[in-house]
Amino acid sequence: MLSNRLANVDKQGQECDTMSHKKEEASSAMLRIPFLVLLLAGASLTGAILTARASAADAPPSPMADAIIFERQEIMGQLRRDSDVLGDILAGVQPAERLPAVTAAIAQGARDSLDIYRQRIPGGRTRSEAWAEHEKFMGQMEAFARNTELMAKAGSKGDLAGVTALVVEALPCKQCHDRYRLPAKPS
Ligand code: HEC
Repeated sequence: MLSNRLANVDKQGQECDTMSHKKEEASSAMLRIPFLVLLLAGASLTGAILTARASAADAPPSPMADAIIFERQEIMGQLRRDSDVLGDILAGVQPAERLPAVTAAIAQGARDSLDIYRQRIPGGRTRSEAWAEHEKFMGQMEAFARNTELMAKAGSKGDLAGVTALVVEALPCKQCHDRYRLPAKPS
């Protein structure tokens, strides 16, 4: 049973490893951040244009959208690293003292994901289904935030058995990705 759980967490890690194309996306997003600053500096003149862009359902790529997509991918990437650590702790490969910090970090990542997906910004590897059924998608994000919070409570007490009992429900990474994330581009 526990090994199933760990396999689940591990698989998540592997699945997300093959993303060399991402580095390019990341650096191009960073290059564009100064543009965002310039745009914001001129906001009194360009405010109307910006607002129109941000609210259009399928807006053309804009520096602001790129920055948000970059940010949500960073949050997810951190979630993967933290989940890997949690998997190692549950497997006894890493010390259990890290349980409070890592379960708290996962709960924070889930809250951040929930927050950032309130903004409907198509792009990245988010499938159009996430926007077409945004309420349902956000319902899953809310459950993710709630359940990781519960797991973090057990984690804060160093309760390994409690975390183990909650981990499958708390980390619905694969279920959500299967429905709402596009496959990685072959590199
Ligand atoms: C409710 C949905 C949902 C949940 C839960 C979820 N993710 Fe994601 N995740 C996504 C979506 C959508 C994307 C695509 C983001 C984009 O590129 O726009 C994504 C992308 C990712 C990526 C790729 C990020 C990148 O650099 O491009 C990783 C890694 C990832 N998720 C890990 C996780 C892990 C680990 C968990 C669980 C602890 C998790 N996710 C939970 C929806 C979810």
